[in-house]
Amino acid sequence: MTGILAGKTAFVTGGASGIGRATAVMMAREGARVAVADRTEDSAAATVALINSAGGQAIALGGDVAIEADVAAMVARTVAAFGALDCAFNNAGIGGRGAGPVGRRTHEMSQDSFDTMIAINLRGVFLCMKHEIGHMLGHGGGAIVNTASIAGLIGLPASSHYVAAKHGVVGLTKTAAMEYAQDGIRVNCVNPGYVATPMTDETMQRRYDELMAKVPMHRLGTADEIAEAVVWMCSDKASFMTGASHIIDGGYYAA
Ligand SMILES: NC(=O)c1ccc[n+]([C@@H]2O[C@H](COP(=O)([O-])OP(=O)(O)OC[C@H]3O[C@@H](n4cnc5c(N)ncnc54)[C@H](O)[C@@H]3O)[C@@H](O)[C@H]2O)c1
Repeated sequence: MTGILAGKTAFVTGGASGIGRATAVMMAREGARVAVADRTEDSAAATVALINSAGGQAIALGGDVAIEADVAAMVARTVAAFGALDCAFNNAGIGGRGAGPVGRRTHEMSQDSFDTMIAINLRGVFLCMKHEIGHMLGHGGGAIVNTASIAGLIGLPASSHYVAAKHGVVGLTKTAAMEYAQDGIRVNCVNPGYVATPMTDETMQRRYDELMAKVPMHRLGTADEIAEAVVWMCSDKASFMTGASHIIDGGYYAA
């Protein structure tokens, strides 16, 4: 296959749905062989089928990004299947609803909700980077993109756990970029605003007009609009980009 990722291999977490699925499909279209990871191998298999039926090459992996043994095994299976790991998109995550009751301010939030969110949305990214970098070191480097959020740059009431996790992802990204700049490993993050995916579905059914009033473009982004940037950041075209937060939000952060 030709394309800006021709000859590369990629590992994508949260690849069964939304932004992860769109990115895995686009990476394959741009020539990468893709390991699609999600909570279960079965859920990742639907994305793999999309890729393979379009003439691409992909494998499905199952595991929980919050568990180090799962992450280590998924990265090892990617390397075993493809012989290399060039690009990683650490994107798996949950919204507030995935961590417990929503609408809680900081003093009302349970420790369980907070810990669940941090385990998946922050520790998950740390564990993925740890094992990906462990392989990339000494194998010619690589490119990592982490999914942060606009919530990694600003506060959002009733979301202190999500905001803390996403600010943490921005910090991990900057730190790893500095640590491995001399090793040929670039580390960046993407900071989407509101995007139409299963994660935002329920909220948008209730609050679309209220939330879109805060977005200068007055619309949701699409998963493909995020994937375009991630694929580019993973490619050699982004060779001088590291430690960056790439905002894609219809103007929300600028307003
Ligand atoms: N949709 C938005 O508006 C938006 C905005 C900013 C950031 N994000 C971030 O984008 C990323 C992708 O979200 P999305 O909108 O595509 O949501 P989504 O719910 O469509 O996809 C998330 C995927 O991550 C997987 N996942 C969740 N927890 C996991 C775990 N512990 N181990 C393995 N896989 C797990 C889910 O099974 C799902 O397939 C998330 O990190 C989210 O925080 C989304």
